Amino acid sequence: MRIEEYRGAPFVDREEEIGFFVEWFSRVPQRILWVYGPKSSGKTTVMEYVVERKLLTEREWWIKSKYWVKYLNLRGKLITSYSSFLDALIVPEEVYEETVERNVYLSLGMICLESKKIKQVKERKKNLFDVLIEEIDRERRGGRIPVLIIDEIQKLRDVYIRNSNGERELLKEFLNFCVRLTKEMHLSHVVILTSNTIFIERIYNDARLKETSEFWKVDHLRREQVEKWLEFEGFSDEEIELVWEYLGGSIPRLIKVIEAKESGRDLKEHLKREVWLAYTEIVDYLTDFGERERKYFKEIAKEIVKKGYYSLEGVTKEKKKLLQDWAEKEILFYDPLELKVTGNSRVYEKALERMIEVHLGEKWTSNFGQYGKMKKNGKD
Ligand SMILES: Nc1ncnc2c1ncn2[C@@H]1O[C@H](COP(=O)(O)OP(=O)(O)OP(=O)(O)O)[C@@H](O)[C@H]1O
Ligand SMILES: [Mg+2]
Repeated sequence: MRIEEYRGAPFVDREEEIGFFVEWFSRVPQRILWVYGPKSSGKTTVMEYVVERKLLTEREWWIKSKYWVKYLNLRGKLITSYSSFLDALIVPEEVYEETVERNVYLSLGMICLESKKIKQVKERKKNLFDVLIEEIDRERRGGRIPVLIIDEIQKLRDVYIRNSNGERELLKEFLNFCVRLTKEMHLSHVVILTSNTIFIERIYNDARLKETSEFWKVDHLRREQVEKWLEFEGFSDEEIELVWEYLGGSIPRLIKVIEAKESGRDLKEHLKREVWLAYTEIVDYLTDFGERERKYFKEIAKEIVKKGYYSLEGVTKEKKKLLQDWAEKEILFYDPLELKVTGNSRVYEKALERMIEVHLGEKWTSNFGQYGKMKKNGKD
């Protein structure tokens, strides 16, 4: 495993993910690729890395690359209507030229159209998606392989297009467009990223979309990767063990602990504080719920700590809704493909351990559930 520099910070090599994506883009587009995973597991970063370092050559890449890539990140964009969707993604040629001159990277995030076409689309004389297909087809015929990447797709969840036939979901139209690009026309790769797995579940349970989709999970770092990284940062074996126990492979938390060590802070204190903060976050959130729901949460917590996960098999609709709420809050991670719920990251599992101890008077020490042993100390 390598640690290299990417955007001025250490980048922990995600060999498996990178290998998968590179191979995916070398094939003929057949299906939409859905990339999902827990919050902050590194989905966007690894995808951007693949785009910059693998698909686009590093020198004069916008001229020489064999791929034509558009990376549309909807995070931070206010999309409440069809028109704001257009404004977020499409730029007129003149503005595009200027932007490319100023910032080549920014140009990746926008699709450039002639002003005349934008006007026609805005006035609904032309269908946006037909126009986009024309553009993509032109690139394809020009010899480049189009790749369309959409990050934070869940932002399109509640947007409707108003037209003469009444209201239609923008998301539905957009997904139809993605199916046309991949399965039907084999014209462009389409990768869709999200950490919202409730959304993924909706897609996964839609028979038509499931058939035209592939799902790939980008999880937190594995133990060997964490070991190598922390070794590289000068951590001792005992320190690595401790950090793994408290933080698992959560990248932003590992970055924080590296900073804490660099500034000479006590490691154990730092880790305990991280757990304390996760714990208070959970307790605070639970105050929004009634006694019954809180009891159910504790039941889940106990199961996660004991087994490493809570199984979604056979849960009632009502309970599922609660689990989804807690997952939307990013306390739990809800995996509709593996039918399992876990802590959103290891620190939340440690916080659940604490919760069981404080609220149920039981002391359990989890050791990554299915990956290791757990023991119960104290009374049942
Ligand atoms: N391989 C890596 N090596 C080092 N740092 C990384 C790596 N991947 C991600 N990071 C850092 O971890 C943080 C979270 O990464 P990123 O935003 O890519 O996650 P994400 O899964 O897209 O998050 P979200 O769920 O919010 O969309 C960022 O600060 C990023 O710079
Ligand atoms: Mg992201």
